[in-house]
Amino acid sequence: MKKGELLYEGKGKKLYKTDDENLLIAEFKDDLTAFNAQKRGSEAGKGALNNKISTQIFRLLKEHGIQTHLVDTISETEQVIKKVDIIPLEVVVRNIATGSLTKRLGIVEGTILPLTLVEFYYKNDDLNDPLVNDEHCIVMNLVKSEKDLQILRHLGREINSILFKFFEEKGLKLVDFKVEFGVDKDGNIILADEISPDSCRFWDAKTNEKLDKDRFRQGIGEVKVAYEEVLRRILS
Ligand code: TMP
Repeated sequence: MKKGELLYEGKGKKLYKTDDENLLIAEFKDDLTAFNAQKRGSEAGKGALNNKISTQIFRLLKEHGIQTHLVDTISETEQVIKKVDIIPLEVVVRNIATGSLTKRLGIVEGTILPLTLVEFYYKNDDLNDPLVNDEHCIVMNLVKSEKDLQILRHLGREINSILFKFFEEKGLKLVDFKVEFGVDKDGNIILADEISPDSCRFWDAKTNEKLDKDRFRQGIGEVKVAYEEVLRRILS
């Protein structure tokens, strides 16, 4: 597979064209950003860790019948992925209250939510990725129909059921996570982007130690050590 021209550079990955018009190469970067890139940093080896972690998680989800964009992981930092039209929504799934949920609504940090909460945020840096409801999504044409929102909500919950159980067995609490979806050439909504400690919150089941990007957001340090620990648990 030939790596072609750079198509897009995001905060965590670069996307390249390939000699197959339906496939792209995603390259995971070492950069770390938080608060809409107001805070910037870098950790050597973080891209390779996220590539490995996301590969394992996407394979697990595939085994459970979730369609994803991942075709093959071809190097330390690169994956071949299906080209999709990204739906401009961040689908956030929450099991335990923390982060923006506690800030916005005053729910006490660490509260176990009585139901799995699924939220949609409009992917728009200029607007700071605002929370949107179903009607906003329809009015703004972010999805084709209400049915697509039901599919996104259903997929978010399915992914959560699979991953919550998987990480529980590894001694990690899956507190919350963000996923993105795209529409493939056949019109199917499939999982895209990545699932890694950049996009999830993992707390150690016994100590509640944070093992994710909150270590960077909150300046706790030892970011890479935490990501390595997540990979170690996944492979254990
Ligand atoms: P939040 O509590 O800041 O809204 O974050 C919810 C989850 O989504 C958390 O696991 C971190 C993840 N997330 C991203 O992956 N990208 C983002 O830009 C934001 C704000 C959150």
